Amino acid sequence: MIFVTNNPHKLQEVGAMLGGKMALKSLRDIGCTDDIPETANTLEGNALMKARYIHERYGGDCFADDTGLEVAALDGRPGVYSARYAGPGHDSEANMQKLLAEMEGKSDRRAQFRTVIALIKEGREYLFEGIVTGHIMEEREEGEGFGYDPIFCPDGYEHSFARLGDEVKNRISHRARAVEKLVEFLKTHNS
Ligand code: IMP
Repeated sequence: MIFVTNNPHKLQEVGAMLGGKMALKSLRDIGCTDDIPETANTLEGNALMKARYIHERYGGDCFADDTGLEVAALDGRPGVYSARYAGPGHDSEANMQKLLAEMEGKSDRRAQFRTVIALIKEGREYLFEGIVTGHIMEEREEGEGFGYDPIFCPDGYEHSFARLGDEVKNRISHRARAVEKLVEFLKTHNS
């Protein structure tokens, strides 16, 4: 199964969740260095766009994910634009700084990470969604992870995803929940 990603953190996270039940190949593993377009304006659209791109060129089964951080007080922003919130590129530092600045003085700090996985299996398309609710912290907390992890605190915890660490994050995260649904589906639809 091809996982349409170049992000080693994600490959590691999802691989750990699958617990060795399925061998995953990354874009690097299949020798794809293309800059795959992600120009849709929804997470669903982007996940499908990436999965279709690889399926059309490489064949076989594959899945792609797209994630956004949706902040209530910002009408769901940065959402589908989370990776390039502070401008082109994938600069997590700049993205977090922009978000913290926009949240200054806001009492409603509710936010959620939402992941959509698009699977193409035997030519058919399926979508799976995972959500984790929480809030944007006033100050960053360093640790593991990537992206907005240092400023997102999931509900039921008092620390950021970064500080909680991969072990906790991999159990409760948006991606974990979407991957759980994917794995459940694959278990019952394995040919
Ligand atoms: P992607 O669609 O998974 O590439 O995610 C888009 C952007 O959302 C990333 O560039 C990160 O800024 C952010 N993001 C996605 N997943 C996570 C996560 O698990 N923790 C923190 N930030 C994330």
